[in-house]
Amino acid sequence: MLFTALFHTHKLVVLLFATIYIIKTILLLIGSDNGLEKFTKIIKIPEIIISLLFLLTGGYMVMNIAEFDVLFIIKLVFVFTSIPLAIIGFKKKKKLFALISIFLIVGAYGLAEVHKARLGKRHDFKEEVITNPEAQNYVLSLHGKALYNAQCTVCHGDDGSAGLSGAKDLRYSQKSSEEVKHIINSGKNTMPKIKPALNEQELKALVSYVNGLRKQDL
Ligand code: HEC
Repeated sequence: MLFTALFHTHKLVVLLFATIYIIKTILLLIGSDNGLEKFTKIIKIPEIIISLLFLLTGGYMVMNIAEFDVLFIIKLVFVFTSIPLAIIGFKKKKKLFALISIFLIVGAYGLAEVHKARLGKRHDFKEEVITNPEAQNYVLSLHGKALYNAQCTVCHGDDGSAGLSGAKDLRYSQKSSEEVKHIINSGKNTMPKIKPALNEQELKALVSYVNGLRKQDL
C-alpha cells in the first residue's frame, strides 16, 4: 500500500531529520565549533537525502490528507520556518536560531499528534442520528447510512470512491460481509478501528450499507 509505506517512511525521515538537528544544536550550544563542522561534513550527503525524502513524502502526505485544518496549517508553517532558521543558525553559529528551530520542529511534531487525536475524536460515533432498532420507523439502511456518514466518508467519500488517506475504493471491494465487519472492528493499516465499538445491530446496518455502495455490474 503506497500511502502506508510513505507514511511510515515520512515518520522515520522526520525522526532522523530531528535527530540531526538536535545533535547539531547540542554541539553548537556546548560551543564545539570543531565538532559541529566535523559532524556537518560527515552528515552532509545523508542529510541531503533525508531532506529530499522529507519534502517528497511530506508533499505526498499533504496532497492526500483527508483533513486540512488550522492546526495542520500551523504545523506546516512551523516546519517551513524552522528549516531556514536552522540553516542560518548552524552556518552562522547563532544559538538562538538553532534553538528556535528545534522548538518549532518539536512543536510541529506535537501539533501533528494533537491533530491526529482530534481527528480521532471528531469521528467518534455520534448517537444523535442513529435510530433505535426497536423504534417503529427504524430503517436498517438509514441507520447504516448515518453510521457511514459519521465515521467513514472522511476517507471513503459519500459513494465509497474518494480513496483519501490511502483508502480503498469501496465500490470495487470484493470483501465478504464477515471481512468487512472485521475491518470495521479492527481497522487495517491507516484505517482506524471504529470507536466506540458498534453492537451487532449497528454493524449489520453499516455492513449492509457499505455493501450497497458496490457497483451492481461486478
Ligand atoms: C482514516 C481513513 C479511513 C476511515 C475513517 C475509514 N477507512 Fe476504510 N479504509 C481505509 C484504508 C486506508 C483502507 C485500505 C486498507 C488496506 O487494505 O490497506 C480502507 C479499507 C476499507 C475496506 C476494505 C476494502 C477492500 O476491498 O479492501 C472497507 C470495507 C472499509 N475500509 C470500510 C470502512 C468503513 C465502513 C468505515 C467507517 C466505519 C471506514 N472504512 C473508515 C481508510 C479509512
